[in-house]
Amino acid sequence: MDLGIFGRKAVVCGASRGIGNAIAVRLAQEGVNLVLAARDGKALDAAAARIRADHGVAVETVATDLSVAQGRRALLAACGDPDILVHNGAWPDENPDFRNWSREDWVRALDAMLLSPVELITGVVDGMKARGFGRIVAVTSRFVKEPRLEHMLSVSPRLGLAGFMNGIGREYARHNVTANAMLTGIFATETQVAFGHELARRSGKPFEAVWKEREATNAAGRFGRPEEMAALCAFLCSAHAGFITAQNILIDGGGYPGVF
Ligand SMILES: NC(=O)c1ccc[n+]([C@@H]2O[C@H](COP(=O)([O-])OP(=O)(O)OC[C@H]3O[C@@H](n4cnc5c(N)ncnc54)[C@H](OP(=O)(O)O)[C@@H]3O)[C@@H](O)[C@H]2O)c1
Repeated sequence: MDLGIFGRKAVVCGASRGIGNAIAVRLAQEGVNLVLAARDGKALDAAAARIRADHGVAVETVATDLSVAQGRRALLAACGDPDILVHNGAWPDENPDFRNWSREDWVRALDAMLLSPVELITGVVDGMKARGFGRIVAVTSRFVKEPRLEHMLSVSPRLGLAGFMNGIGREYARHNVTANAMLTGIFATETQVAFGHELARRSGKPFEAVWKEREATNAAGRFGRPEEMAALCAFLCSAHAGFITAQNILIDGGGYPGVF
């Protein structure tokens, strides 16, 4: 299917590896020019060079920390007028006991997972409206739909983001600007592999055993592949998806046990 976005421009956050990188590659396959952001400029430039060589699209990079306001301003100043914004990237600190969460922990989490997407969306959405096309997608988490207390440092900002995006998604729909979030189940990215190694170290079991045990708990019997996430994102960014907005779309291999 031709997604109808050839020649458009996308900002993809957290694009140096993992899900964000897979999304950048998938959009490049559709002929979308890219502005990629992440903190580590070397890894980002390497990712950009691979995409340029493989797909021949224009790729700019902005090495910046999106968890701080200055980093968001730098990206907005550099990205011109994007047609597509994909927010992705931050992880909460691992700190499962809510009694230990300080005000600083909360502020850091809110900055990275709520204010970052809110400020980037605010910076680009009116331009999208003026041009009559815009696609905003945020990568969040399955825990938005299935909250657990130990994950509230990421769930709370991401639930706030779901509220903001719902408002944006409906306000701008008549201008062909949509806003949706993808609620990520477990995907086999480098960061998940590193976490698997950490769990193996803690349990004293081999990594392969820990990985297989965790995969087996999912209905699909496996973790997601970043390309699967990227395929959904590309469709949400496509010309065909103008009637899908203000949604939180779960992509978790059947891990969520409920109907709605
Ligand atoms: N993979 C999963 O199973 C899973 C499950 C639930 C939710 N998620 C969510 O999905 C997103 C992507 O996951 P992933 O596994 O692909 O992550 P990942 O492999 O760790 O990649 C994260 C990307 O974001 C960038 N990044 C992180 N913090 C940043 C910051 N403050 N400013 C700018 N860029 C930043 C990283 O580059 P730098 O480090 O160089 O900045 C990297 O490019 C995350 O938000 C995660 O919470 C993932």
